[in-house]
Amino acid sequence: MISTSGIPQDLVERLGHASSIVVFTGAGVSAESGVPTFRGQDGLWQKYNAEDLATWQAFERDPRLVWSWYDYRRQIISGVDPNPGHAAIAKMAAVFDNVTVVTQNVDGLHDRAGSKNIVELHGNIWRARCTRELTVFDFRECPLSENPPLCKECGSMLRPDVVWYGEPLPMDAYERSHEVACTCDAMLVVGTSAQVRPAATLPLVAKHNGAFVVEINTHYTPISALIDTTLIGGAGEILPELLDLISACSDDSEDASGTAGGVKEHSGV
Ligand code: APR
Repeated sequence: MISTSGIPQDLVERLGHASSIVVFTGAGVSAESGVPTFRGQDGLWQKYNAEDLATWQAFERDPRLVWSWYDYRRQIISGVDPNPGHAAIAKMAAVFDNVTVVTQNVDGLHDRAGSKNIVELHGNIWRARCTRELTVFDFRECPLSENPPLCKECGSMLRPDVVWYGEPLPMDAYERSHEVACTCDAMLVVGTSAQVRPAATLPLVAKHNGAFVVEINTHYTPISALIDTTLIGGAGEILPELLDLISACSDDSEDASGTAGGVKEHSGV
């Protein structure tokens, strides 16, 4: 049955029966806030060479250039707000028993939108790390007053606390994301080209472990044929609609069963 919004009713009901859900996001969830994505026609990698800006070798070669690129991105992000897609993800905590947001994004917009259980696979552009002491701390100076910024404790160069190409993911973040991918009832895969591993394997891990996996993207991706279904459209439009439909669905089942609580009453998919 096709719902009025074009989101299939059976998909809404499958999600509505989920107790634990993972929302796995990429740059596309922030696109409608005005944060550039990496790939696609206006993507950052169309204008810049990742090898020149997002590797340890690039930083060793020219830290000032790398920091100027992150300073540019920080200035863009400081001027935008979470969009309705981020807000809908944050509101899911009131609908499902367990919601984990596993994000590849470093922009901090899920946190600003009010999501709580966030796993940052690729770090956070608003943190810095001392290259000598390896201490990590909030670093929100924008624009930079000095380039490269130096550690106030030891005077060594700071680096952005993000994962560069060729670097391992933070072990705790990856282990946590893999654990929830293995155990969730459902996963929403939102705004990722699913091209960068190991993050891109998480939807397949979830599917392999029995989760109902739904992709939300403006385009099909390499994993579209490997998961349950893809909703084509903007995350900022689809996610609020989807959340409303799931909430209405749980209200209906609550009325029918006369039990207290909505989605939270169901267990398993
Ligand atoms: N709504 C939903 N999806 C969208 C939207 C939107 N409004 N706009 C774009 N998209 C989709 C694109 O179709 C694309 O599939 O978002 C995806 C963005 O893909 P990428 O730019 O490749 O971003 P991402 O998948 O997050 O990249 C993964 O690559 O360069 C590294 O570290 C970087 O974390 C990043 C990783």
